[in-house]
Amino acid sequence: MSDIKSVLVENRSFPPSREFSESSRVASTEEYEALYKRADEDPEGYWSEVASELHWHKTWEQVLHWELPDAKWFVGGETNLAYNCLDHQITKGLGDKTAILFEGEPGDVRKLSFSELHAEVCRFSNALLGMGVVSGDRVAIYLPMIPEAAIAMLACARIGAIHSVIFGGFSAGSLSDRIADAGISTVITADGGYRRGSVLELKKNVDEALEKTPVERVIVVQRCKNEVNWDNERDHWYHDLMAAASSEHQAPALDSEHPLFILYTSGTTGKPKGILHTTGGYMCGVYQSTKLVFDIKDDDIFWCTADVGWITGHSYVVYGALLNGTTTLMYEGAPNHPEPDRFWELIAKHKATILYTAPTAIRAFMRWGDTWPDKHDLSSLRLLGTVGEPINPAAWEWYRERIGGNRCPIVDTWWQTETGSIMVSPLPGAIATKPGSCTRALPGVSIKIVNREGQPCDTNAGGFLVIDKPWPSMLRTIYGDHERFTKTYFGEIDGVYFAGDGARCDEDGYFWVMGRVDDVINVSGHRLSTMEVESALVSHPQVAEVAVVAKPDALKGQVIVAFVTPMGGVETSDALAIELRQHVAKEIGALARPEEIRFADALPKTRSGKIMRRLLRDLASGTKVQGDVTTLEDASVLSALAAQHDEDSDEA
Ligand code: WTA
Repeated sequence: MSDIKSVLVENRSFPPSREFSESSRVASTEEYEALYKRADEDPEGYWSEVASELHWHKTWEQVLHWELPDAKWFVGGETNLAYNCLDHQITKGLGDKTAILFEGEPGDVRKLSFSELHAEVCRFSNALLGMGVVSGDRVAIYLPMIPEAAIAMLACARIGAIHSVIFGGFSAGSLSDRIADAGISTVITADGGYRRGSVLELKKNVDEALEKTPVERVIVVQRCKNEVNWDNERDHWYHDLMAAASSEHQAPALDSEHPLFILYTSGTTGKPKGILHTTGGYMCGVYQSTKLVFDIKDDDIFWCTADVGWITGHSYVVYGALLNGTTTLMYEGAPNHPEPDRFWELIAKHKATILYTAPTAIRAFMRWGDTWPDKHDLSSLRLLGTVGEPINPAAWEWYRERIGGNRCPIVDTWWQTETGSIMVSPLPGAIATKPGSCTRALPGVSIKIVNREGQPCDTNAGGFLVIDKPWPSMLRTIYGDHERFTKTYFGEIDGVYFAGDGARCDEDGYFWVMGRVDDVINVSGHRLSTMEVESALVSHPQVAEVAVVAKPDALKGQVIVAFVTPMGGVETSDALAIELRQHVAKEIGALARPEEIRFADALPKTRSGKIMRRLLRDLASGTKVQGDVTTLEDASVLSALAAQHDEDSDEA
């Protein structure tokens, strides 16, 4: 394990800033430790205190019912997430406060107060009910980052319909797969969305997807006023429905375990998994983590740059912010449109106080140069966050210096679609930070680093990250496939939740996440499975066989390299490589487009016929990893862990 030590960048540590400690909720390491200990000794007591800060139509009878792998939180309790985000805030006197502060890519600004957002959500709830959408129905949301995305999510949550938000960058084919898997009745989309100056034709993708997987109704938000095809029976304009709907709606009491949403994410197989979250537990997890990790203040303008199509957008753009009565900033477009300083312009203009973004974005900003942030007044910022992938120390330090002016703490937050909310992160003011480490677990969250047998690893030894106690915002199942849920998350290491990440814990009890140990690739913080990309490639008529692996990349964290064996008689060429890359973009979405296609006459296999991925991984990366990817991925340790994982799954 001496290798790991050497990549530790001399273990620099930044103490909690005094400014923070004076005012933050958890104001010192001792306070954090006391709180952690209390929550660890009595998780149910801790979480019921958290839940008590929210509104319940009916109090729970039992905090937790745990029968591995099935958790039920706040059993017998009834609540409504949208009520807590809106009505409850209005009751607390926040009606006139801005809830959503929106800026579109063309520069249009819209502000919705909690009262206005409440009225819109009630109207849309009535519109959905009026069309026959009922509690338990599955509704797909395929929208740009505009307020209607939040309104649609909140309206579904309010009436008990299960939303499934699908990122606008996914292709018609991916959309169709998700619609079929979730049994979607209603799709909410837009005539388009702005991205880098052009219009993303969402409705067109929906039309194409629905040829294969029809639904009962499509609701279309008018965003770009561009021409769209129309089906009079099936399609409805959002603004027509809203004009006819009442803004009065009583939020019904929903069971704490009522399904809230399905969010698709990539796993080890070709088919994305529909991660299912439920109401009460998810609400407590995102409420508490937002409050503690971002140390929310009344006058915060919170900017989480994630798209609502990802879990980060669900939990922190929409639900976590609103549950805390916080103003959430929503931006529709690209970070470099019209110029590479759009983010800094937005921060200065709207006086954002918290910026929460992905390491990939930070590395891109670094590359674009300091002159862009330097042009703007970023003094409103008081806290910075990162999420989605390991951050390399150079990017961390640049972020701290250039964006945070050496005054803003950085919270590097580790979590997953499955965990629902942040699991590991420094609490600003309480925990000293180290560049590249997500530091320590949140109170009420129990993380361990173990070996294959489930035994704790030594200090600084690489192992598997597991969670050994249930937590409220944990996924409840994979929609329609409970067996896969059990096997994937609780079938790897006895008795604990298996996250699929390799990590180590240092002498201060700090966690360092190294990356995935399974066949999930993390490109720019977006999860993709190697098999998903392989399936897309083999569907091309000129491809016989293919193996996809990840290669470390200084900008994107990882990129996709595909080893392709063409059909007999097919001439390989650059043109074919380009065509294959485009084919993947069309099948899945541009985010899955391989960086490199390498043609090979045959793929290396074991005697039992299994493709030797480890070999291909090493081949793709070269023996020496280039660029500043030190803690991004400790290639040797990770590769060894991944190999161990591969072999084990091979035997299974
Ligand atoms: C990775 C995103 C290192 C990890 C919220 C995890 C991270 C996967 C971090 C989940 C972090 C997330 N440091 N790695 N701070 N945060 N990851 O489901 O591999 O899109 O398993 O959720 O991202 O990705 P997902």
